[in-house]
Amino acid sequence: MRVGLLTGGGDCPGLNAVIRAVVRKGIEAHGWETVGFRNGWLGPIEGLTKPIGLDDVEDILTRGGTILGSSRTNPYKVDGGVDRIRETLAEHGVDALIAIGGEDTLGVAKRLTDDGIGVVGVPKTIDNDLGATDYTFGFDTAVHIATESIDRLRTTAESHHRALVVEVMGRHAGWIALHSGLAGGANVILVPERQFSVDQVVEWVERRFERQYAPIIVVAEGALPEGGQEKLLTGEKDAFGHVRLGGIGTWLAEEIAQRTGKESRAVVLGHTQRGGTPTAYDRVLATRFGLHAVDAVQDGDFGVMVALRGTDIVRVKLSEATAELKTVPLERYQEAEVFFG
Ligand code: F6P
Repeated sequence: MRVGLLTGGGDCPGLNAVIRAVVRKGIEAHGWETVGFRNGWLGPIEGLTKPIGLDDVEDILTRGGTILGSSRTNPYKVDGGVDRIRETLAEHGVDALIAIGGEDTLGVAKRLTDDGIGVVGVPKTIDNDLGATDYTFGFDTAVHIATESIDRLRTTAESHHRALVVEVMGRHAGWIALHSGLAGGANVILVPERQFSVDQVVEWVERRFERQYAPIIVVAEGALPEGGQEKLLTGEKDAFGHVRLGGIGTWLAEEIAQRTGKESRAVVLGHTQRGGTPTAYDRVLATRFGLHAVDAVQDGDFGVMVALRGTDIVRVKLSEATAELKTVPLERYQEAEVFFG
Protein backbone atom coordinates (compact mmCIF):
# COMPACT_ATOMS: atom_id res chain seq x y z
CA MET A 1 0.00 0.00 0.00
CA ARG A 2 1.15 3.58 -0.71
CA VAL A 3 0.06 6.13 1.83
CA GLY A 4 0.40 9.90 1.53
CA LEU A 5 0.98 12.16 4.50
CA LEU A 6 0.46 15.89 4.91
CA THR A 7 0.38 18.57 7.62
CA GLY A 8 -2.02 21.53 7.30
CA GLY A 9 -2.83 24.72 9.18
CA GLY A 10 -0.67 26.43 11.78
CA ASP A 11 2.35 24.38 12.81
CA CYS A 12 2.52 22.78 16.21
CA PRO A 13 5.18 20.99 18.27
CA GLY A 14 4.71 17.24 17.79
CA LEU A 15 3.89 17.18 14.06
CA ASN A 16 7.21 15.52 13.28
CA ALA A 17 6.61 12.93 15.99
CA VAL A 18 3.38 11.92 14.20
CA ILE A 19 5.17 11.74 10.85
CA ARG A 20 7.91 9.57 12.34
CA ALA A 21 5.42 7.18 13.97
CA VAL A 22 3.39 6.79 10.76
CA VAL A 23 6.48 6.12 8.66
CA ARG A 24 8.05 3.71 11.15
CA LYS A 25 4.94 1.65 11.74
CA GLY A 26 3.68 1.87 8.16
CA ILE A 27 6.95 0.60 6.73
CA GLU A 28 8.10 -1.77 9.47
CA ALA A 29 4.78 -3.36 10.42
CA HIS A 30 2.93 -3.30 7.10
CA GLY A 31 5.50 -2.83 4.35
CA TRP A 32 3.90 0.44 3.19
CA GLU A 33 5.51 2.96 0.96
CA THR A 34 5.04 6.45 2.34
CA VAL A 35 4.85 9.65 0.32
CA GLY A 36 5.04 13.08 1.91
CA PHE A 37 3.06 15.95 0.43
CA ARG A 38 4.48 19.39 1.01
CA ASN A 39 2.63 22.39 2.40
CA GLY A 40 -0.72 20.99 3.43
CA TRP A 41 -3.38 20.47 0.77
CA LEU A 42 -1.28 22.50 -1.67
CA GLY A 43 1.00 19.45 -1.97
CA PRO A 44 -1.52 17.03 -3.48
CA ILE A 45 -3.11 19.83 -5.51
CA GLU A 46 0.19 20.77 -7.16
CA GLY A 47 1.93 17.41 -6.98
CA LEU A 48 4.58 18.65 -4.50
CA THR A 49 6.04 15.56 -2.90
CA LYS A 50 8.87 14.87 -0.48
CA PRO A 51 10.30 11.41 0.08
CA ILE A 52 9.76 10.19 3.63
CA GLY A 53 11.45 6.89 4.28
CA LEU A 54 12.99 5.53 7.46
CA ASP A 55 16.14 7.65 7.18
CA ASP A 56 14.14 10.83 6.64
CA VAL A 57 12.38 10.44 9.98
CA GLU A 58 15.35 9.22 11.98
CA ASP A 59 16.15 12.48 13.79
CA ILE A 60 12.85 14.33 13.80
CA LEU A 61 11.14 13.21 17.02
CA THR A 62 12.42 16.19 19.00
CA ARG A 63 12.24 18.75 16.21
CA GLY A 64 9.53 21.44 16.26
CA GLY A 65 7.57 22.49 13.18
CA THR A 66 6.94 20.05 10.36
CA ILE A 67 9.43 18.62 7.88
CA LEU A 68 6.62 18.58 5.32
CA GLY A 69 5.81 22.28 5.58
CA SER A 70 2.28 23.56 6.01
CA SER A 71 -0.29 25.91 4.48
CA ARG A 72 -3.90 26.88 4.92
CA THR A 73 -4.84 26.01 1.33
CA ASN A 74 -8.35 24.61 0.97
CA PRO A 75 -8.83 22.50 -2.19
CA TYR A 76 -12.54 23.34 -2.17
CA LYS A 77 -11.63 26.99 -2.65
CA VAL A 78 -9.15 26.29 -5.46
CA ASP A 79 -10.42 25.93 -9.02
CA GLY A 80 -10.48 22.21 -9.81
CA GLY A 81 -8.66 21.55 -6.52
CA VAL A 82 -10.29 18.21 -5.71
CA ASP A 83 -9.83 16.85 -9.24
CA ARG A 84 -6.19 17.86 -9.13
CA ILE A 85 -5.78 15.95 -5.86
CA ARG A 86 -7.34 12.88 -7.48
CA GLU A 87 -4.93 13.16 -10.42
CA THR A 88 -1.88 13.54 -8.15
CA LEU A 89 -2.86 10.53 -6.05
CA ALA A 90 -3.38 8.43 -9.19
CA GLU A 91 -0.07 9.59 -10.64
CA HIS A 92 1.84 8.63 -7.49
CA GLY A 93 -0.17 5.46 -6.90
CA VAL A 94 -1.30 6.71 -3.49
CA ASP A 95 -4.12 4.60 -2.02
CA ALA A 96 -4.93 6.65 1.07
CA LEU A 97 -4.02 9.84 2.91
CA ILE A 98 -3.25 10.71 6.51
CA ALA A 99 -3.97 14.40 7.12
CA ILE A 100 -2.60 15.99 10.29
CA GLY A 101 -4.27 19.28 11.07
CA GLY A 102 -6.83 21.39 12.87
CA GLU A 103 -10.44 22.21 12.19
CA ASP A 104 -9.93 23.40 8.60
CA THR A 105 -7.63 20.57 7.50
CA LEU A 106 -9.92 17.97 9.09
CA GLY A 107 -12.99 19.61 7.52
CA VAL A 108 -11.38 19.14 4.11
CA ALA A 109 -10.45 15.55 5.06
CA LYS A 110 -14.10 14.86 5.79
CA ARG A 111 -15.32 16.33 2.49
CA LEU A 112 -12.68 14.43 0.52
CA THR A 113 -13.75 11.17 2.18
CA ASP A 114 -17.36 11.96 1.21
CA ASP A 115 -16.04 12.53 -2.32
CA GLY A 116 -14.44 9.08 -2.42
CA ILE A 117 -10.85 9.78 -1.35
CA GLY A 118 -9.76 7.71 1.66
CA VAL A 119 -8.49 9.99 4.42
CA VAL A 120 -7.70 9.43 8.10
CA GLY A 121 -7.30 12.54 10.27
CA VAL A 122 -4.90 13.31 13.11
CA PRO A 123 -5.85 16.30 15.28
CA LYS A 124 -3.35 19.04 16.07
CA THR A 125 -3.62 22.47 17.59
CA ILE A 126 -1.81 24.22 20.39
CA ASP A 127 -5.17 25.77 21.29
CA ASN A 128 -6.63 22.41 22.44
CA ASP A 129 -10.03 23.50 21.13
CA LEU A 130 -11.08 20.46 19.09
CA GLY A 131 -14.23 19.04 20.66
CA ALA A 132 -13.77 15.38 19.84
CA THR A 133 -10.48 14.80 21.66
CA ASP A 134 -9.59 15.39 25.30
CA TYR A 135 -6.21 16.85 24.34
CA THR A 136 -4.28 17.76 21.22
CA PHE A 137 -0.50 17.56 21.09
CA GLY A 138 1.20 20.96 21.05
CA PHE A 139 -1.02 22.26 23.84
CA ASP A 140 1.21 20.97 26.64
CA THR A 141 4.28 22.51 24.98
CA ALA A 142 2.54 25.86 24.50
CA VAL A 143 1.40 25.90 28.13
CA HIS A 144 4.91 24.97 29.26
CA ILE A 145 6.47 27.84 27.27
CA ALA A 146 3.85 30.33 28.48
CA THR A 147 4.29 29.20 32.10
CA GLU A 148 8.04 29.54 31.94
CA SER A 149 7.61 33.03 30.49
CA ILE A 150 5.20 33.99 33.28
CA ASP A 151 7.71 32.76 35.88
CA ARG A 152 10.43 34.89 34.31
CA LEU A 153 8.21 37.94 33.89
CA ARG A 154 7.16 37.76 37.53
CA THR A 155 10.68 38.34 38.85
CA THR A 156 11.27 41.38 36.65
CA ALA A 157 7.78 42.72 37.45
CA GLU A 158 8.44 42.37 41.19
CA SER A 159 11.79 44.13 40.89
CA HIS A 160 10.23 47.17 39.20
CA HIS A 161 6.82 47.14 40.95
CA ARG A 162 5.07 46.93 37.60
CA ALA A 163 1.95 45.24 36.32
CA LEU A 164 2.85 42.71 33.65
CA VAL A 165 0.25 41.73 31.03
CA VAL A 166 1.14 38.49 29.23
CA GLU A 167 -0.78 37.90 26.00
CA VAL A 168 -0.98 34.26 24.96
CA MET A 169 -2.49 32.57 21.90
CA GLY A 170 -6.12 31.54 21.71
CA ARG A 171 -8.49 33.36 19.41
CA HIS A 172 -11.63 31.45 20.29
CA ALA A 173 -10.66 29.34 23.31
CA GLY A 174 -8.80 30.30 26.46
CA TRP A 175 -7.20 26.95 27.32
CA ILE A 176 -3.61 28.18 27.05
CA ALA A 177 -4.45 31.26 29.14
CA LEU A 178 -6.27 29.23 31.79
CA HIS A 179 -3.66 26.50 32.14
CA SER A 180 -0.57 28.72 31.96
CA GLY A 181 -2.25 31.27 34.22
CA LEU A 182 -3.00 28.62 36.83
CA ALA A 183 0.44 27.04 36.52
CA GLY A 184 2.18 30.42 36.68
CA GLY A 185 0.09 31.74 39.56
CA ALA A 186 -1.39 34.61 37.55
CA ASN A 187 -3.37 37.22 39.46
CA VAL A 188 -5.87 37.73 36.62
CA ILE A 189 -6.73 35.37 33.74
CA LEU A 190 -8.84 36.61 30.82
CA VAL A 191 -10.31 34.29 28.18
CA PRO A 192 -12.33 34.76 24.97
CA GLU A 193 -15.25 32.80 26.42
CA ARG A 194 -16.05 35.52 28.94
CA GLN A 195 -16.02 39.26 28.31
CA PHE A 196 -14.26 41.03 31.15
CA SER A 197 -14.88 44.23 33.08
CA VAL A 198 -11.87 46.55 32.97
CA ASP A 199 -13.02 48.03 36.32
CA GLN A 200 -12.85 44.56 37.85
CA VAL A 201 -9.37 43.93 36.41
CA VAL A 202 -8.19 47.27 37.80
CA GLU A 203 -9.60 46.33 41.22
CA TRP A 204 -7.67 43.04 41.22
CA VAL A 205 -4.50 44.82 40.08
CA GLU A 206 -4.80 47.47 42.79
CA ARG A 207 -5.42 44.86 45.46
CA ARG A 208 -2.24 43.11 44.40
CA PHE A 209 -0.21 46.31 44.51
CA GLU A 210 -1.65 47.12 47.97
CA ARG A 211 -0.21 43.84 49.20
CA GLN A 212 3.17 44.90 47.77
CA TYR A 213 3.22 42.33 44.98
CA ALA A 214 3.44 42.89 41.23
CA PRO A 215 0.28 41.74 39.42
CA ILE A 216 0.56 39.31 36.52
CA ILE A 217 -2.35 39.39 34.09
CA VAL A 218 -2.59 36.57 31.55
CA VAL A 219 -4.85 37.41 28.62
CA ALA A 220 -5.78 35.26 25.65
CA GLU A 221 -5.43 37.09 22.33
CA GLY A 222 -9.16 36.68 21.67
CA ALA A 223 -10.35 38.02 25.05
CA LEU A 224 -12.47 41.15 24.91
CA PRO A 225 -13.62 43.77 27.40
CA GLU A 226 -17.36 44.19 27.87
CA GLY A 227 -18.70 46.02 24.81
CA GLY A 228 -15.17 46.38 23.47
CA GLN A 229 -15.28 44.42 20.23
CA GLU A 230 -15.23 47.48 17.98
CA LYS A 231 -12.21 48.89 19.77
CA LEU A 232 -10.10 45.77 19.52
CA LEU A 233 -10.96 44.04 16.28
CA THR A 234 -9.51 46.17 13.54
CA GLY A 235 -11.78 44.51 10.99
CA GLU A 236 -8.85 44.40 8.58
CA LYS A 237 -7.78 41.17 6.99
CA ASP A 238 -4.22 40.29 6.13
CA ALA A 239 -3.11 39.01 2.73
CA PHE A 240 -4.19 35.50 3.75
CA GLY A 241 -7.68 36.48 4.83
CA HIS A 242 -7.13 36.34 8.63
CA VAL A 243 -8.84 39.02 10.65
CA ARG A 244 -6.23 41.06 12.48
CA LEU A 245 -6.62 41.28 16.21
CA GLY A 246 -5.92 44.68 17.70
CA GLY A 247 -3.53 43.60 20.46
CA ILE A 248 -5.54 43.17 23.62
CA GLY A 249 -2.41 42.82 25.78
CA THR A 250 -0.95 46.19 24.81
CA TRP A 251 -4.32 47.88 25.06
CA LEU A 252 -4.98 46.45 28.51
CA ALA A 253 -1.53 47.39 29.85
CA GLU A 254 -2.18 51.00 28.79
CA GLU A 255 -5.63 51.00 30.43
CA ILE A 256 -4.14 49.62 33.66
CA ALA A 257 -1.38 52.24 33.67
CA GLN A 258 -3.83 55.09 33.09
CA ARG A 259 -6.34 53.94 35.68
CA THR A 260 -3.93 52.90 38.44
CA GLY A 261 -1.07 55.32 37.85
CA LYS A 262 1.28 52.31 38.08
CA GLU A 263 3.78 51.33 35.44
CA SER A 264 2.56 48.48 33.23
CA ARG A 265 4.16 46.45 30.50
CA ALA A 266 2.72 44.07 27.92
CA VAL A 267 4.49 41.03 26.51
CA VAL A 268 3.00 39.22 23.52
CA LEU A 269 4.32 35.65 23.50
CA GLY A 270 3.03 34.99 19.98
CA HIS A 271 4.67 32.27 17.93
CA THR A 272 7.26 31.35 20.56
CA GLN A 273 4.39 29.21 21.92
CA ARG A 274 4.33 27.20 18.69
CA GLY A 275 8.03 26.83 18.04
CA GLY A 276 10.72 24.50 19.24
CA THR A 277 10.86 21.03 20.66
CA PRO A 278 7.71 19.34 22.01
CA THR A 279 7.42 18.30 25.66
CA ALA A 280 7.62 14.62 26.55
CA TYR A 281 3.82 14.51 26.95
CA ASP A 282 3.30 15.91 23.44
CA ARG A 283 5.88 13.56 21.93
CA VAL A 284 4.07 10.58 23.42
CA LEU A 285 0.59 11.75 22.43
CA ALA A 286 1.70 12.64 18.90
CA THR A 287 3.46 9.28 18.54
CA ARG A 288 0.39 7.37 19.74
CA PHE A 289 -1.85 9.33 17.35
CA GLY A 290 0.47 8.43 14.47
CA LEU A 291 0.53 4.73 15.37
CA HIS A 292 -3.26 4.55 15.64
CA ALA A 293 -3.74 6.46 12.37
CA VAL A 294 -1.74 3.71 10.67
CA ASP A 295 -4.09 1.10 12.18
CA ALA A 296 -7.13 2.99 10.86
CA VAL A 297 -5.70 3.11 7.33
CA GLN A 298 -4.72 -0.54 7.52
CA ASP A 299 -8.32 -1.38 8.54
CA GLY A 300 -9.67 0.68 5.64
CA ASP A 301 -11.50 2.80 8.22
CA PHE A 302 -11.57 6.15 6.40
CA GLY A 303 -13.41 9.33 7.36
CA VAL A 304 -12.25 8.99 10.95
CA MET A 305 -9.90 10.90 13.20
CA VAL A 306 -7.83 9.47 16.03
CA ALA A 307 -8.65 11.05 19.38
CA LEU A 308 -7.68 10.85 23.04
CA ARG A 309 -10.43 9.82 25.45
CA GLY A 310 -9.08 9.50 28.96
CA THR A 311 -5.88 7.57 28.36
CA ASP A 312 -7.18 5.63 25.34
CA ILE A 313 -6.76 6.48 21.69
CA VAL A 314 -10.08 5.99 19.90
CA ARG A 315 -11.48 6.72 16.45
CA VAL A 316 -14.20 9.29 15.93
CA LYS A 317 -16.01 10.25 12.74
CA LEU A 318 -14.44 13.27 11.05
CA SER A 319 -17.92 14.83 11.00
CA GLU A 320 -17.92 14.67 14.81
CA ALA A 321 -14.33 15.89 14.99
CA THR A 322 -15.09 19.18 13.29
CA ALA A 323 -18.62 19.70 14.61
CA GLU A 324 -17.89 21.67 17.73
CA LEU A 325 -15.19 23.91 19.17
CA LYS A 326 -14.17 23.00 22.72
CA THR A 327 -14.18 26.20 24.75
CA VAL A 328 -13.42 26.76 28.43
CA PRO A 329 -16.54 25.99 30.49
CA LEU A 330 -17.59 28.64 32.99
CA GLU A 331 -17.01 26.35 35.96
CA ARG A 332 -13.42 25.68 34.88
CA TYR A 333 -12.81 29.42 34.64
CA GLN A 334 -14.45 30.02 38.01
CA GLU A 335 -12.09 27.51 39.65
CA ALA A 336 -9.24 29.94 38.92
CA GLU A 337 -10.99 33.03 40.28
CA VAL A 338 -9.96 32.39 43.87
CA PHE A 339 -6.42 33.33 42.83
CA PHE A 340 -7.39 36.67 41.24
CA GLY A 341 -6.26 39.82 42.96
O1 F6P B 1 -2.56 27.39 15.96
C1 F6P B 1 -3.61 28.21 16.39
C2 F6P B 1 -3.10 29.59 16.54
O2 F6P B 1 -1.95 29.45 17.26
C3 F6P B 1 -4.01 30.62 17.19
O3 F6P B 1 -4.00 30.62 18.59
C4 F6P B 1 -3.51 31.90 16.60
O4 F6P B 1 -4.45 32.90 16.60
C5 F6P B 1 -3.17 31.49 15.21
O5 F6P B 1 -2.78 30.13 15.28
C6 F6P B 1 -2.13 32.34 14.56
O6 F6P B 1 -1.54 31.65 13.52
P1 F6P B 1 -0.87 32.29 12.24
O7 F6P B 1 -0.08 33.47 12.68
O8 F6P B 1 -0.03 31.19 11.69
O9 F6P B 1 -1.98 32.67 11.33
